[in-house]
Amino acid sequence: MFKILTYNNIAAAGLEKLPREHYEVASEIQHPDAILLRSFDLHGVPIPETVKAVGRAGAGVNNIPVAEYSKRGVPVFNAPGANANAVKELVIAGLFLAARHIPAALDFTRSLEGDDDAIHHQVEKGKKRFVGFELAGKTLAVLGLGAIGVKVANAAIGLGMRVVGFDPLLTVESAWQLSSSVARAASVDDLISRADLVSLHVPLNDQTRHLINAARISFMKKGATLLNFSRAGVVDESAVCAALDAGRLHAYVCDFPSRRVIGHPKAIVLPHLGASTAEAEENCSVIVAERIKDYLENGNIRHSVNFPDVSMPRGGNVRLGVANENVPNMVGQISAALAEADLNIIDLLNKSRGDYAYTLIDLNSAIPAETLERIRSIKGVLMARVI
Ligand SMILES: NC(=O)c1ccc[n+]([C@@H]2O[C@H](COP(=O)([O-])OP(=O)(O)OC[C@H]3O[C@@H](n4cnc5c(N)ncnc54)[C@H](O)[C@@H]3O)[C@@H](O)[C@H]2O)c1
Repeated sequence: MFKILTYNNIAAAGLEKLPREHYEVASEIQHPDAILLRSFDLHGVPIPETVKAVGRAGAGVNNIPVAEYSKRGVPVFNAPGANANAVKELVIAGLFLAARHIPAALDFTRSLEGDDDAIHHQVEKGKKRFVGFELAGKTLAVLGLGAIGVKVANAAIGLGMRVVGFDPLLTVESAWQLSSSVARAASVDDLISRADLVSLHVPLNDQTRHLINAARISFMKKGATLLNFSRAGVVDESAVCAALDAGRLHAYVCDFPSRRVIGHPKAIVLPHLGASTAEAEENCSVIVAERIKDYLENGNIRHSVNFPDVSMPRGGNVRLGVANENVPNMVGQISAALAEADLNIIDLLNKSRGDYAYTLIDLNSAIPAETLERIRSIKGVLMARVI
């Protein structure tokens, strides 16, 4: 029986992937084998000794101290792409909200007073304040062409926009999905200087924090619109507000309320609704539950954020999973310990990623407790588990 600790409500479709005969899932549970969460902040929360995996039903993992889990040999799984369509649809809505002054226009409509004649008169007099622009023919810059950025770029092409993109780490998978009409920028500065609207779809990390700052905004076209459905910290909000005040930016559309931006008349601020659709929540919970299940039951790692993809069909009666530092001679020492116990390796797969590596070994006979302890005590081994 595996125990799963949940920190947020996880959509039922995902929980159904963890059958009750084998899984106990609860928001309060002792000695959990895995943690499932959405946006709960795990920073500062002690890591239970028993935890083997963490599943984030969403894309971003900045609410999880991934480095600390990595040092313990615990893979952190997320569900990239599962909410991409939901975010894309809101970004497209954001383009229209800004282009047609929709929030301010709705406020105006709500403020209309009097009978129908009076309303008609006020409408005809007042509507010129909301003259907008059309998206067709405008240039949209998409920074970050991952699951969301690709969908935004393709949808904008469908709206008749010109689209230019930049992603120095573009994956083959994303490249396959990206419309061939999307032009390629040479750098962030090149990208944003070419666009009427700029949409950000990069993760928040040390390289992307305040990526859009005063210097970058000075490269943007005067009157451009900035959309941020990525993370608040990717932009320097004070620089953005100053640019809105100075008329350098037409609007800032974002999904991240802060005191500074919600008070700004040219900011269109949504309450972090990007992934908030029933479909996205279901997709995320199903994907992450399946990955946690495959890891707990088979030791397979698929799409974790901190360990390599290592997955193979079961080839023996016993499987050993080992997470270790990515240093020389780890596989040699592990196999030597197994050989000393007269254990025959049927299949072995080892891969590394950055500072960490993971090995799956299939064997025909049980691993004696002292052999497992011996492997665990090898310098650099972070976790060893018989599956
Ligand atoms: N508003 C919301 O509710 C919401 C929902 C989901 C995701 N998000 C945010 O959107 C981000 C993107 O999500 P995704 O699913 O597309 O992720 P993803 O990992 O599929 O794509 C991110 C892309 O950004 C690229 N990238 C990284 N650093 C870059 C840089 N410095 N310059 C240009 N490109 C860079 C990567 O190569 C990758 O292709 C997430 O990290 C998350 O912060 C927000």
